[in-house]
Amino acid sequence: MSINDLFASSLYTHFVSHYANPAGADLLARTEPFFEWQDARRAQGLWPYSRSLDGAPEAACAVRSETGTGAVGLNFLSQDYLGLSTHPEVVRAAERALRDHGMHSAGSGMLGGNTAPGLALESALAEALQVPHVALFSTGWGAGFGTITALVRPDDHVLLDTLSHACLQAGAAAATRNVVRFRHLDNEAVRRHLKKIRTRDAHNAVLVVTEGLFSMDSDIPAIEELQSICHEWGATLLVDMAHDFGQMGPRGSGSVGAQGMLGKVDLVMGAFSKTFGSNGGFVATRSPAVRQFIRVFGGPHIFSNAISQLQASVVAEALRIVRSDEGDVLRGRLGAAVGTLRGTLEERGVMALGTPSAVVPVVVGDAAVARVAGRMIFERGVFVNLVEYPAVPIKGSRFRMQVMATHTGAQARAAGVVVSDCIAEAKEIVQHGGVIQGPFTILTPPPSPLSVAAA
Ligand SMILES: Cc1ncc(COP(=O)(O)O)c(C=O)c1O
Repeated sequence: MSINDLFASSLYTHFVSHYANPAGADLLARTEPFFEWQDARRAQGLWPYSRSLDGAPEAACAVRSETGTGAVGLNFLSQDYLGLSTHPEVVRAAERALRDHGMHSAGSGMLGGNTAPGLALESALAEALQVPHVALFSTGWGAGFGTITALVRPDDHVLLDTLSHACLQAGAAAATRNVVRFRHLDNEAVRRHLKKIRTRDAHNAVLVVTEGLFSMDSDIPAIEELQSICHEWGATLLVDMAHDFGQMGPRGSGSVGAQGMLGKVDLVMGAFSKTFGSNGGFVATRSPAVRQFIRVFGGPHIFSNAISQLQASVVAEALRIVRSDEGDVLRGRLGAAVGTLRGTLEERGVMALGTPSAVVPVVVGDAAVARVAGRMIFERGVFVNLVEYPAVPIKGSRFRMQVMATHTGAQARAAGVVVSDCIAEAKEIVQHGGVIQGPFTILTPPPSPLSVAAA
Protein backbone atom coordinates (compact mmCIF):
# COMPACT_ATOMS: atom_id res chain seq x y z
CA MET A 1 0.00 0.00 0.00
CA SER A 2 1.41 3.41 -0.95
CA ILE A 3 1.66 6.04 1.71
CA ASN A 4 -1.09 8.01 -0.02
CA ASP A 5 -3.40 4.99 0.00
CA LEU A 6 -2.57 4.43 3.66
CA PHE A 7 -3.58 7.94 4.65
CA ALA A 8 -6.75 7.63 2.56
CA SER A 9 -7.74 4.43 4.41
CA SER A 10 -10.31 4.19 7.18
CA LEU A 11 -7.46 4.04 9.69
CA TYR A 12 -6.93 7.75 9.12
CA THR A 13 -10.21 9.01 7.68
CA HIS A 14 -12.88 7.39 9.83
CA PHE A 15 -14.05 8.71 13.18
CA VAL A 16 -15.97 6.90 15.90
CA SER A 17 -19.14 8.46 14.47
CA HIS A 18 -18.82 6.18 11.39
CA TYR A 19 -19.61 3.24 13.68
CA ALA A 20 -22.09 4.81 16.12
CA ASN A 21 -25.29 3.51 14.50
CA PRO A 22 -24.71 -0.08 13.37
CA ALA A 23 -27.57 -1.93 11.68
CA GLY A 24 -28.57 -5.57 12.14
CA ALA A 25 -30.71 -7.81 14.31
CA ASP A 26 -27.87 -9.05 16.51
CA LEU A 27 -27.37 -6.37 19.12
CA LEU A 28 -23.98 -7.66 20.20
CA ALA A 29 -22.46 -8.89 16.92
CA ARG A 30 -22.98 -5.55 15.25
CA THR A 31 -20.36 -3.94 17.49
CA GLU A 32 -17.63 -5.89 15.62
CA PRO A 33 -16.90 -3.46 12.75
CA PHE A 34 -16.15 -0.72 15.27
CA PHE A 35 -13.88 -3.04 17.22
CA GLU A 36 -11.96 -4.06 14.09
CA TRP A 37 -11.37 -0.44 13.11
CA GLN A 38 -10.40 0.50 16.65
CA ASP A 39 -8.09 -2.51 16.88
CA ALA A 40 -6.35 -1.58 13.62
CA ARG A 41 -5.69 1.87 15.04
CA ARG A 42 -4.52 0.32 18.30
CA ALA A 43 -2.08 -1.97 16.50
CA GLN A 44 -0.51 1.04 14.74
CA GLY A 45 -0.23 3.12 17.91
CA LEU A 46 -2.91 5.43 16.56
CA TRP A 47 -5.52 4.86 19.27
CA PRO A 48 -4.40 7.18 22.06
CA TYR A 49 -7.42 6.63 24.30
CA SER A 50 -8.12 4.62 27.45
CA ARG A 51 -4.53 4.82 28.62
CA SER A 52 -3.89 4.21 32.30
CA LEU A 53 -1.57 5.89 34.76
CA ASP A 54 0.70 3.75 36.90
CA GLY A 55 0.72 5.88 40.03
CA ALA A 56 -0.56 9.35 40.87
CA PRO A 57 -1.23 12.01 38.23
CA GLU A 58 2.05 13.79 38.84
CA ALA A 59 3.89 16.03 36.38
CA ALA A 60 6.19 13.16 35.43
CA CYS A 61 4.47 9.82 35.42
CA ALA A 62 4.21 6.34 33.98
CA VAL A 63 1.47 5.61 31.48
CA ARG A 64 0.28 2.37 29.94
CA SER A 65 -1.57 2.09 26.65
CA GLU A 66 -4.55 -0.22 26.18
CA THR A 67 -2.27 -2.77 24.56
CA GLY A 68 -0.25 -2.85 27.78
CA THR A 69 2.86 -1.04 26.60
CA GLY A 70 4.19 1.41 29.13
CA ALA A 71 6.09 4.66 28.82
CA VAL A 72 7.49 7.17 31.25
CA GLY A 73 7.29 10.85 30.54
CA LEU A 74 5.67 14.21 31.07
CA ASN A 75 2.03 14.16 32.00
CA PHE A 76 -0.05 16.75 30.15
CA LEU A 77 -3.24 14.70 30.15
CA SER A 78 -4.42 14.85 33.76
CA GLN A 79 -6.89 17.41 35.06
CA ASP A 80 -5.42 17.74 38.53
CA TYR A 81 -4.87 21.41 37.71
CA LEU A 82 -3.45 22.56 41.05
CA GLY A 83 -1.85 19.18 41.84
CA LEU A 84 -4.13 18.82 44.86
CA SER A 85 -4.79 15.09 44.55
CA THR A 86 -1.30 14.45 45.95
CA HIS A 87 -1.08 17.47 48.25
CA PRO A 88 0.02 16.24 51.71
CA GLU A 89 -2.90 17.94 53.49
CA VAL A 90 -5.39 16.43 51.04
CA VAL A 91 -3.85 12.99 51.48
CA ARG A 92 -4.06 13.41 55.27
CA ALA A 93 -7.72 14.45 54.97
CA ALA A 94 -8.37 11.29 52.95
CA GLU A 95 -6.64 9.13 55.57
CA ARG A 96 -8.63 10.76 58.39
CA ALA A 97 -11.90 10.30 56.47
CA LEU A 98 -11.13 6.66 55.82
CA ARG A 99 -10.36 6.05 59.48
CA ASP A 100 -13.31 8.03 60.87
CA HIS A 101 -16.04 7.47 58.29
CA GLY A 102 -15.02 4.56 56.04
CA MET A 103 -15.35 4.32 52.27
CA HIS A 104 -19.02 3.99 51.75
CA SER A 105 -21.93 6.43 51.55
CA ALA A 106 -24.53 3.72 52.27
CA GLY A 107 -27.26 4.94 49.95
CA SER A 108 -28.46 7.71 47.70
CA GLY A 109 -28.60 11.22 49.10
CA MET A 110 -32.34 10.68 49.60
CA LEU A 111 -32.00 7.38 51.45
CA GLY A 112 -29.34 7.47 54.14
CA GLY A 113 -26.46 8.44 51.87
CA ASN A 114 -25.99 11.93 53.25
CA THR A 115 -22.99 12.11 55.53
CA ALA A 116 -21.37 14.61 57.87
CA PRO A 117 -18.48 15.26 55.41
CA GLY A 118 -21.02 15.70 52.58
CA LEU A 119 -23.07 18.23 54.57
CA ALA A 120 -19.89 20.09 55.57
CA LEU A 121 -18.88 20.22 51.92
CA GLU A 122 -22.27 21.66 50.92
CA SER A 123 -21.79 24.47 53.47
CA ALA A 124 -18.21 25.16 52.36
CA LEU A 125 -19.26 25.34 48.71
CA ALA A 126 -22.19 27.62 49.56
CA GLU A 127 -19.79 30.00 51.28
CA ALA A 128 -17.20 29.89 48.48
CA LEU A 129 -19.82 30.45 45.76
CA GLN A 130 -21.90 32.92 47.79
CA VAL A 131 -24.94 30.83 46.95
CA PRO A 132 -26.75 29.39 49.98
CA HIS A 133 -28.20 26.11 48.67
CA VAL A 134 -26.02 23.34 47.29
CA ALA A 135 -26.88 19.79 46.21
CA LEU A 136 -24.15 17.21 45.67
CA PHE A 137 -23.92 14.50 43.05
CA SER A 138 -21.56 11.55 42.85
CA THR A 139 -20.26 12.72 39.45
CA GLY A 140 -20.03 16.02 37.60
CA TRP A 141 -21.84 14.30 34.74
CA GLY A 142 -24.74 13.54 37.05
CA ALA A 143 -24.84 17.16 38.25
CA GLY A 144 -25.28 18.44 34.68
CA PHE A 145 -27.69 15.76 33.49
CA GLY A 146 -29.61 15.68 36.76
CA THR A 147 -30.05 19.44 37.06
CA ILE A 148 -31.38 19.85 33.53
CA THR A 149 -33.64 16.80 33.53
CA ALA A 150 -35.06 17.71 36.94
CA LEU A 151 -35.98 21.25 36.01
CA VAL A 152 -36.88 21.16 32.31
CA ARG A 153 -40.26 19.77 31.20
CA PRO A 154 -41.06 18.56 27.63
CA ASP A 155 -42.70 21.84 26.56
CA ASP A 156 -39.84 23.98 27.87
CA HIS A 157 -36.88 25.17 25.81
CA VAL A 158 -33.12 24.76 26.28
CA LEU A 159 -30.58 26.98 24.55
CA LEU A 160 -27.09 25.46 24.72
CA ASP A 161 -23.77 26.87 23.65
CA THR A 162 -22.84 24.60 20.78
CA LEU A 163 -19.68 23.44 22.60
CA SER A 164 -21.47 22.50 25.83
CA HIS A 165 -20.30 19.32 27.54
CA ALA A 166 -21.99 16.00 26.74
CA CYS A 167 -23.75 15.85 30.14
CA LEU A 168 -25.49 19.14 29.36
CA GLN A 169 -26.38 18.10 25.80
CA ALA A 170 -27.66 14.71 26.99
CA GLY A 171 -29.68 16.35 29.78
CA ALA A 172 -31.27 18.78 27.35
CA ALA A 173 -32.05 16.03 24.82
CA ALA A 174 -33.60 13.83 27.52
CA ALA A 175 -35.74 16.66 28.87
CA THR A 176 -37.26 18.27 25.79
CA ARG A 177 -37.29 18.28 22.00
CA ASN A 178 -37.10 22.07 22.07
CA VAL A 179 -33.31 22.30 22.09
CA VAL A 180 -31.41 24.99 20.20
CA ARG A 181 -27.63 25.10 19.98
CA PHE A 182 -26.41 28.67 19.70
CA ARG A 183 -23.13 29.81 18.16
CA HIS A 184 -20.25 29.41 20.58
CA LEU A 185 -20.01 32.38 23.03
CA ASP A 186 -22.43 34.43 20.92
CA ASN A 187 -24.65 36.36 23.35
CA GLU A 188 -26.37 38.19 20.51
CA ALA A 189 -27.40 34.83 19.06
CA VAL A 190 -28.91 33.97 22.46
CA ARG A 191 -30.83 37.24 22.40
CA ARG A 192 -32.17 36.48 18.90
CA HIS A 193 -33.21 32.93 19.84
CA LEU A 194 -34.89 34.10 23.04
CA LYS A 195 -36.81 36.78 21.18
CA LYS A 196 -38.01 34.20 18.67
CA ILE A 197 -39.04 31.74 21.38
CA ARG A 198 -40.78 34.37 23.48
CA THR A 199 -42.69 35.73 20.47
CA ARG A 200 -44.49 32.42 20.14
CA ASP A 201 -44.28 30.94 23.64
CA ALA A 202 -44.74 33.02 26.78
CA HIS A 203 -45.98 30.08 28.86
CA ASN A 204 -43.10 27.66 29.12
CA ALA A 205 -39.69 28.05 30.70
CA VAL A 206 -36.37 28.61 28.90
CA LEU A 207 -33.00 27.45 30.24
CA VAL A 208 -29.80 28.89 28.75
CA VAL A 209 -26.66 26.82 29.30
CA THR A 210 -23.02 27.81 29.09
CA GLU A 211 -19.68 26.97 30.73
CA GLY A 212 -17.24 29.06 32.74
CA LEU A 213 -14.33 27.76 30.66
CA PHE A 214 -14.80 25.68 27.52
CA SER A 215 -12.27 22.91 27.61
CA MET A 216 -11.98 22.31 23.86
CA ASP A 217 -11.15 25.93 23.03
CA SER A 218 -10.10 27.43 26.40
CA ASP A 219 -12.44 30.38 26.08
CA ILE A 220 -14.95 32.10 28.33
CA PRO A 221 -18.39 33.68 27.86
CA ALA A 222 -19.37 37.21 28.94
CA ILE A 223 -21.45 36.00 31.87
CA GLU A 224 -22.90 39.27 33.18
CA GLU A 225 -24.24 40.23 29.77
CA LEU A 226 -25.61 36.71 29.19
CA GLN A 227 -27.35 36.74 32.57
CA SER A 228 -28.98 40.08 31.84
CA ILE A 229 -30.14 38.92 28.37
CA CYS A 230 -31.69 35.87 30.05
CA HIS A 231 -33.54 38.02 32.55
CA GLU A 232 -34.70 40.42 29.86
CA TRP A 233 -36.47 37.50 28.14
CA GLY A 234 -37.62 35.56 31.18
CA ALA A 235 -35.01 32.81 30.84
CA THR A 236 -32.81 31.10 33.45
CA LEU A 237 -29.02 30.82 33.12
CA LEU A 238 -26.96 27.76 34.12
CA VAL A 239 -23.15 28.08 34.14
CA ASP A 240 -21.09 24.88 34.37
CA MET A 241 -17.88 25.80 36.22
CA ALA A 242 -16.29 22.34 35.92
CA HIS A 243 -13.00 23.52 34.45
CA ASP A 244 -12.51 27.05 35.81
CA PHE A 245 -13.64 26.68 39.43
CA GLY A 246 -10.55 26.42 41.62
CA GLN A 247 -7.90 27.12 39.01
CA MET A 248 -9.07 30.55 37.79
CA GLY A 249 -10.50 33.73 39.26
CA PRO A 250 -9.92 35.46 42.61
CA ARG A 251 -9.41 32.79 45.28
CA GLY A 252 -10.28 30.19 42.65
CA SER A 253 -13.81 31.50 42.19
CA GLY A 254 -13.73 30.75 38.45
CA SER A 255 -14.94 32.94 35.61
CA VAL A 256 -18.08 33.72 37.60
CA GLY A 257 -15.90 35.24 40.35
CA ALA A 258 -13.53 36.91 37.90
CA GLN A 259 -16.49 38.67 36.27
CA GLY A 260 -17.93 39.87 39.59
CA MET A 261 -20.89 37.49 39.28
CA LEU A 262 -20.52 35.36 42.43
CA GLY A 263 -23.95 34.83 43.90
CA LYS A 264 -25.63 36.51 40.92
CA VAL A 265 -25.95 33.71 38.36
CA ASP A 266 -29.28 31.82 38.48
CA LEU A 267 -27.66 28.38 38.70
CA VAL A 268 -24.04 27.28 38.85
CA MET A 269 -22.76 23.73 38.78
CA GLY A 270 -19.41 22.01 38.61
CA ALA A 271 -17.30 18.89 38.96
CA PHE A 272 -14.72 17.88 41.56
CA SER A 273 -12.78 15.80 39.04
CA LYS A 274 -10.58 18.64 37.84
CA THR A 275 -9.12 21.00 40.45
CA PHE A 276 -10.57 19.28 43.51
CA GLY A 277 -8.60 16.05 43.40
CA SER A 278 -11.59 13.72 43.57
CA ASN A 279 -14.85 12.81 41.86
CA GLY A 280 -18.33 14.26 42.26
CA GLY A 281 -20.30 17.33 41.32
CA PHE A 282 -22.67 19.99 42.61
CA VAL A 283 -25.34 22.47 41.70
CA ALA A 284 -25.83 25.69 43.66
CA THR A 285 -28.91 27.91 43.77
CA ARG A 286 -30.29 30.84 45.76
CA SER A 287 -33.57 28.96 46.22
CA PRO A 288 -34.17 26.20 48.78
CA ALA A 289 -37.13 25.06 46.65
CA VAL A 290 -34.93 24.62 43.58
CA ARG A 291 -32.37 22.64 45.59
CA GLN A 292 -35.01 20.26 46.95
CA PHE A 293 -36.66 19.91 43.53
CA ILE A 294 -33.35 18.97 41.88
CA ARG A 295 -32.57 16.48 44.65
CA VAL A 296 -35.93 14.73 44.36
CA PHE A 297 -36.45 14.91 40.58
CA GLY A 298 -32.80 14.74 39.43
CA GLY A 299 -32.30 11.05 38.62
CA PRO A 300 -28.55 10.90 39.33
CA HIS A 301 -29.10 12.39 42.81
CA ILE A 302 -32.01 10.26 43.95
CA PHE A 303 -31.20 7.00 42.13
CA SER A 304 -27.43 6.86 42.51
CA ASN A 305 -25.33 6.40 45.61
CA ALA A 306 -24.25 9.69 47.20
CA ILE A 307 -20.72 11.01 46.95
CA SER A 308 -18.60 9.00 49.40
CA GLN A 309 -17.36 10.36 52.71
CA LEU A 310 -13.80 9.98 51.46
CA GLN A 311 -14.46 12.02 48.32
CA ALA A 312 -16.39 14.72 50.19
CA SER A 313 -13.56 15.08 52.72
CA VAL A 314 -10.95 15.32 49.97
CA VAL A 315 -12.95 17.97 48.11
CA ALA A 316 -13.51 19.99 51.29
CA GLU A 317 -9.77 20.04 52.02
CA ALA A 318 -8.96 20.88 48.40
CA LEU A 319 -11.48 23.72 48.55
CA ARG A 320 -9.85 25.05 51.72
CA ILE A 321 -6.48 25.15 49.91
CA VAL A 322 -8.02 26.63 46.74
CA ARG A 323 -9.34 29.57 48.79
CA SER A 324 -6.14 30.11 50.81
CA ASP A 325 -2.94 32.07 50.15
CA GLU A 326 -1.40 28.77 49.14
CA GLY A 327 -4.11 28.48 46.48
CA ASP A 328 -2.94 31.80 45.05
CA VAL A 329 0.64 30.49 44.97
CA LEU A 330 -0.46 27.33 43.17
CA ARG A 331 -2.49 29.33 40.64
CA GLY A 332 0.60 31.50 40.10
CA ARG A 333 2.73 28.41 39.38
CA LEU A 334 0.08 27.05 37.08
CA GLY A 335 -0.09 30.37 35.21
CA ALA A 336 3.70 30.42 34.82
CA ALA A 337 3.79 26.89 33.38
CA VAL A 338 0.87 27.71 31.04
CA GLY A 339 2.70 30.86 29.88
CA THR A 340 5.88 28.88 29.19
CA LEU A 341 4.02 26.19 27.26
CA ARG A 342 2.00 28.63 25.17
CA GLY A 343 5.10 30.79 24.59
CA THR A 344 7.17 27.79 23.47
CA LEU A 345 4.47 26.64 21.07
CA GLU A 346 4.07 30.13 19.66
CA GLU A 347 7.84 30.64 19.17
CA ARG A 348 7.80 27.45 17.13
CA GLY A 349 4.89 28.50 14.94
CA VAL A 350 2.11 26.59 16.69
CA MET A 351 -0.78 28.64 18.04
CA ALA A 352 -2.68 27.53 21.11
CA LEU A 353 -6.36 28.47 21.07
CA GLY A 354 -8.17 30.70 23.49
CA THR A 355 -7.25 32.44 26.67
CA PRO A 356 -4.47 31.23 29.01
CA SER A 357 -5.85 28.60 31.39
CA ALA A 358 -4.87 25.12 32.55
CA VAL A 359 -6.26 23.83 29.26
CA VAL A 360 -4.03 24.49 26.26
CA PRO A 361 -5.75 23.38 23.02
CA VAL A 362 -3.34 22.90 20.13
CA VAL A 363 -5.26 22.64 16.88
CA VAL A 364 -3.71 20.40 14.23
CA GLY A 365 -6.70 20.25 11.87
CA ASP A 366 -6.29 17.16 9.71
CA ALA A 367 -7.07 13.89 11.49
CA ALA A 368 -4.29 11.90 9.79
CA VAL A 369 -1.66 14.46 10.78
CA ALA A 370 -2.99 14.54 14.33
CA ARG A 371 -2.99 10.72 14.63
CA VAL A 372 0.58 10.40 13.34
CA ALA A 373 1.74 13.29 15.53
CA GLY A 374 -0.07 11.75 18.49
CA ARG A 375 1.86 8.52 18.12
CA MET A 376 5.17 10.38 17.89
CA ILE A 377 4.41 12.58 20.89
CA PHE A 378 3.71 9.48 22.97
CA GLU A 379 6.89 7.80 21.73
CA ARG A 380 8.90 10.83 22.76
CA GLY A 381 7.53 10.69 26.28
CA VAL A 382 4.91 13.43 26.39
CA PHE A 383 1.34 12.48 27.26
CA VAL A 384 -1.45 14.60 25.81
CA ASN A 385 -5.10 14.05 24.89
CA LEU A 386 -6.03 13.80 21.24
CA VAL A 387 -9.52 15.19 20.64
CA GLU A 388 -11.28 14.32 17.41
CA TYR A 389 -14.63 14.69 15.70
CA PRO A 390 -17.41 14.61 16.85
CA ALA A 391 -16.12 16.25 20.06
CA VAL A 392 -14.60 18.97 17.83
CA PRO A 393 -15.21 19.92 14.16
CA ILE A 394 -14.18 17.33 11.56
CA LYS A 395 -11.19 19.40 10.42
CA GLY A 396 -10.44 20.52 13.98
CA SER A 397 -8.49 17.58 15.47
CA ARG A 398 -6.40 18.89 18.32
CA PHE A 399 -4.27 18.04 21.28
CA ARG A 400 -5.75 19.13 24.56
CA MET A 401 -2.78 19.69 26.81
CA GLN A 402 -3.63 20.03 30.48
CA VAL A 403 -1.15 21.89 32.61
CA MET A 404 -0.79 21.49 36.37
CA ALA A 405 0.76 23.70 39.05
CA THR A 406 3.28 20.89 39.56
CA HIS A 407 4.81 21.30 36.09
CA THR A 408 8.15 23.08 36.08
CA GLY A 409 8.99 25.65 33.43
CA ALA A 410 11.54 23.19 31.98
CA GLN A 411 8.87 20.50 31.68
CA ALA A 412 6.42 22.90 30.02
CA ARG A 413 9.11 23.99 27.58
CA ALA A 414 10.15 20.41 26.81
CA ALA A 415 6.55 19.43 26.13
CA GLY A 416 6.03 22.45 23.85
CA VAL A 417 9.13 21.51 21.84
CA VAL A 418 8.08 17.85 21.46
CA VAL A 419 4.51 18.68 20.48
CA SER A 420 5.47 21.34 17.93
CA ASP A 421 8.25 19.16 16.43
CA CYS A 422 5.94 16.16 16.12
CA ILE A 423 3.18 18.17 14.45
CA ALA A 424 5.67 19.55 11.91
CA GLU A 425 7.13 16.09 11.21
CA ALA A 426 3.70 14.49 10.94
CA LYS A 427 2.59 17.15 8.43
CA GLU A 428 5.65 16.40 6.35
CA ILE A 429 4.92 12.67 6.42
CA VAL A 430 1.20 12.95 5.60
CA GLN A 431 1.46 15.72 3.03
CA HIS A 432 4.66 14.74 1.25
CA GLY A 433 4.98 11.06 2.00
CA GLY A 434 7.62 9.55 4.20
CA VAL A 435 8.19 6.87 6.74
CA ILE A 436 6.79 6.81 10.23
CA GLN A 437 9.74 6.01 12.43
CA GLY A 438 9.25 2.90 14.52
CA PRO A 439 9.18 0.78 16.53
CA PHE A 440 7.85 2.47 19.64
CA THR A 441 10.53 3.54 22.07
CA ILE A 442 8.83 2.05 25.08
CA LEU A 443 10.25 1.24 28.48
CA THR A 444 8.53 -1.76 30.07
CA PRO A 445 7.87 -2.00 32.92
CA PRO A 446 8.13 1.70 33.61
CA PRO A 447 10.35 2.81 36.45
CA SER A 448 8.88 4.97 39.20
CA PRO A 449 7.89 8.40 37.93
CA LEU A 450 9.92 9.83 40.80
CA SER A 451 13.07 8.63 39.08
CA VAL A 452 12.30 10.67 35.98
CA ALA A 453 14.47 13.73 36.00
CA ALA A 454 12.60 17.00 35.69
CA ALA A 455 13.31 17.51 32.03
C1 LIG B 1 -17.92 21.07 31.47
C2 LIG B 1 -18.01 19.73 32.12
N1 LIG B 1 -19.09 19.43 32.85
C3 LIG B 1 -19.20 18.24 33.46
C4 LIG B 1 -18.24 17.27 33.34
C5 LIG B 1 -18.43 15.94 33.98
O1 LIG B 1 -17.66 15.83 35.12
P1 LIG B 1 -17.16 14.41 35.66
O2 LIG B 1 -16.17 13.92 34.67
O3 LIG B 1 -16.55 14.78 36.96
O4 LIG B 1 -18.32 13.53 35.79
C6 LIG B 1 -17.09 17.55 32.62
C7 LIG B 1 -16.03 16.51 32.53
O5 LIG B 1 -15.22 16.40 31.75
C8 LIG B 1 -16.97 18.81 31.97
O6 LIG B 1 -15.91 19.10 31.22
